[in-house]
Amino acid sequence: MRAIHIVTTRLSSCCFKPILLLDLVSVSSSPRKLSIPNRRFISAATKPDGGRSGSIVAPLVTQQEFQKIDVNPPKGTRDFPPEDMRLRNWLFNHFKEVSRLFGYEEIDFPVLETEALFIRKAGEEIRDQLYCFEDRGNRRVALRPELTPSLARLVIQKGKSVSLPLKWFAVGQCWRYERMTRGRRREHYQWNMDIIGVPEVTAEAELISSIVTFFKRVGITASDVGFKVSSRKVLQELLRKYGVPENLFGRVCIIIDKIEKIPVDEIKKELGLTGISEDASEQLLKVLSVKSLDDLEDSLGGAGEAIADLKNLFSLAEKFGYSEWIQFDASVVRGLAYYTGIVFEGFDRKGKLRAICGGGRYDRLLSTYGGDDIPACGFGFGDAVIVELLKEKGLLPELRQEVENIVCALDKDLQGAAATVATALRDKGQTVDLVLESKPMKWVFKRAARVNARRLVLVGKTEWEDGLVSVKVLSSGEQFQVKLNDLE
Ligand code: HAM
Repeated sequence: MRAIHIVTTRLSSCCFKPILLLDLVSVSSSPRKLSIPNRRFISAATKPDGGRSGSIVAPLVTQQEFQKIDVNPPKGTRDFPPEDMRLRNWLFNHFKEVSRLFGYEEIDFPVLETEALFIRKAGEEIRDQLYCFEDRGNRRVALRPELTPSLARLVIQKGKSVSLPLKWFAVGQCWRYERMTRGRRREHYQWNMDIIGVPEVTAEAELISSIVTFFKRVGITASDVGFKVSSRKVLQELLRKYGVPENLFGRVCIIIDKIEKIPVDEIKKELGLTGISEDASEQLLKVLSVKSLDDLEDSLGGAGEAIADLKNLFSLAEKFGYSEWIQFDASVVRGLAYYTGIVFEGFDRKGKLRAICGGGRYDRLLSTYGGDDIPACGFGFGDAVIVELLKEKGLLPELRQEVENIVCALDKDLQGAAATVATALRDKGQTVDLVLESKPMKWVFKRAARVNARRLVLVGKTEWEDGLVSVKVLSSGEQFQVKLNDLE
């Protein structure tokens, strides 16, 4: 007896060998005793059907060779069955519509990037959460944990071929090996809007305005959500005052960002390790507890760039019409090393959830990749926390499957005619669920109700001979016969 048999082999934790076809395996009377005369790789392209059908291989696999798999996706990741996909599309459509309202163009990057793109020296949490591995060509690669480095890479690559300012947006999947909490997962989608080439605070002001526009569209108000705003220039001015070298700036910001996560003594210890004096640490921490711009001005001993930027932002917020959404909070520093100016975070006022979104100015990121610096700012807005918030506020939409027509042949012989009717309707831009099997009418009505069909189009023998079909409008029960060409 001759048989063909498929085997997949695990090579390492991150990759699988292509399907191996153990060609023409001779099988003796015992199915477990296989003699393997010849092994060769077979790719989808070399298979007669392009690898789509499993039927070209007649698997003579014994019971023991079946592997019972865990049907859940890997921890922290999600499947998107239709009901979840409807919600995701609804959310992403809002992201995209808002971006377009503001005149931004959509971009995308590969989910897989070189690992080096995400390695920064500042000791960020995001670095420890990186999904990274070596590919088959011995290159270190990583699943992107965020979109900003890819954006910077693309801007450098485009160089002078693009005219500034760039206003770009993206919605893409990001991977972080996070500790799982409510709204934090190992895989999430992020909506990003970024402006490249505008040094003025008008850019930050417009970005916040776009997020507010999104919130309003989905029914969230200023009493549900707010933005905490600060500027990293506050820290910069303080560090300068205490003679702390500029190159420590990113590292200090990352340490300060942990303020609400680890004890203050631990923060002071970490600051001390960078070489910052105890006095400077005390002052830094004192200023970070300040909650008004006037107090900040007093603490800094006058109005510097940080104060000027923040005052400008608050004045622009008034003009854009979202003053009630924003508040100054010196403790907002953000956990990414590259921010250089205004930083902001969207938070739920009940304080139950993690940050809804966050962003800021990153004027010096490009030079860290060897490019020329261009002023830049943007934000990232995840898909997980917002869904939690919408759920809590009862604002999640009820999204049902919807199809305009169900087309059904009344007779098996008329399935071809039903296909013709379906094509005619689809050509007119109508959605059609074509009943592909011979089913009783009871079944068809049930299905129509399940897919929320607007009408039922029946193809019966005598009508079809006259070029007619029967239509039943499901909401009103109205019935009529109509020529296929006149069916709108
Ligand atoms: P980020 O604060 O790390 O910033 O992330 C932005 C947003 O992504 C968060 O506020 C949250 O909504 C969502 N997010 C982050 N990690 C997770 C997670 N593990 N699970 C679910 N949601 C998550 C950035 O990524 C910056 N690159 C944003 C940016 C763009 N700055 C300038 N341009």
